[in-house]
Amino acid sequence: MKLKTIKDAEVKGKKVLIRVDYNVPLQNGEVMDDTRIVESLPTLQYLLKSGASIIVMSHLGRPKGEVVDDLKMDPVAAKLNELLKIDVKKVDSCIGPEVEEAVSELKAGDVLMLENTRFHKEEKENNKDFAKKLASYADIYVSDAFGTVHRAHASTEGVAHHLDSYAGFLIEKEVEALSPLLEDVPKPFVLLLGGAKIDTKIGVIKAYINKADKILLGGGLANTFVAAQGFDVGQSLYEEDKLDVAREIMLEAEKSGCEIILPGGFIVADEIGDNVLTADMEVTGIEANMKMLDIGVRSLNKFAGILEEAKTIIWNGPVGLYEKKPFERGTRELAEILSEVKGKTYLGGGDTLSALKHFGIKPDKFTHVSTGGGAMLELLEGKKLPGLKVLTS
Ligand code: 3PG
Ligand code: MG
Repeated sequence: MKLKTIKDAEVKGKKVLIRVDYNVPLQNGEVMDDTRIVESLPTLQYLLKSGASIIVMSHLGRPKGEVVDDLKMDPVAAKLNELLKIDVKKVDSCIGPEVEEAVSELKAGDVLMLENTRFHKEEKENNKDFAKKLASYADIYVSDAFGTVHRAHASTEGVAHHLDSYAGFLIEKEVEALSPLLEDVPKPFVLLLGGAKIDTKIGVIKAYINKADKILLGGGLANTFVAAQGFDVGQSLYEEDKLDVAREIMLEAEKSGCEIILPGGFIVADEIGDNVLTADMEVTGIEANMKMLDIGVRSLNKFAGILEEAKTIIWNGPVGLYEKKPFERGTRELAEILSEVKGKTYLGGGDTLSALKHFGIKPDKFTHVSTGGGAMLELLEGKKLPGLKVLTS
């Protein structure tokens, strides 16, 4: 894949519309993890130094085409202001008269941030007129939104049909770091997947059955598979409508010789809290009032042994509710083990990044820590990603 990058573009005196992935965790109106913003700075700084003015756009969360006050970009703009040390002007929409006026006033070196693109349903529909409108504000389009390149949305794909389009340094860096895995994956190749939701990861698991030697599952994702095997999961989080798919995947894996390994035991509690009573229960012993909130210690040791032997490891998603002390052990110890194993380690996903930060584990301990979750997994699956395709020559 040959990307056109901003080094190929003439940006002096131009208005550059840049799509970033500032879908960052927020709490009480503050950015909890600024990794994705920090990682976009080299591109923004290069454009500004080269004499461009920039219009920054991103989605934040999943507002379903409506304005959601808690998902406005203001805290993100404030964070960018602080990091760039430049006055970032923020408008309250991403299209319309207010944007037109702000754009018309832009001078070289100015930064304007648009409102959450997903406040308009046309964004996810990749609506042509909407994309054209966004494009009309600028001379050049740059994407550095690696975390969102697997989405064919107006701001990640549609807009590129109306402007000369280039990749920023973050996209270039991610693609370069991940591409070797598309050719030759040293084996044993192990995929460690966690996180709460199964829906976004189901396709990924299916695709990796034919690539990975072992797939280790934790988090809510594992609960769904455990329930699919017919065990009682008590009050645990799981997705009832995905039980059939989970069964189908387990059957397919068996046929293709890929081992899907589920935790055989879990740290359980009756309630979620920082000081609650917990127990380490075998999967056969989960009772109706219990919640499975981390992998059990015996499973942790088993996972650790497999990871230590692996030559290539991809990790996406925490294996437990690591934000709460009683349920952090599985995620913390696996992160620590991965920071020391001999095999190559590729990590990704917002929650995984946040977990590393939470435990104070430095990203430079791993082969590559990606700002993309789904995007990294889909790229490594070998899929052609719409947000990258538009940036190729
Ligand atoms: C992410 O955090 O995974 C990206 O920003 C994409 O978000 P999405 O899964 O809501 O499209
Ligand atoms: Mg995602």
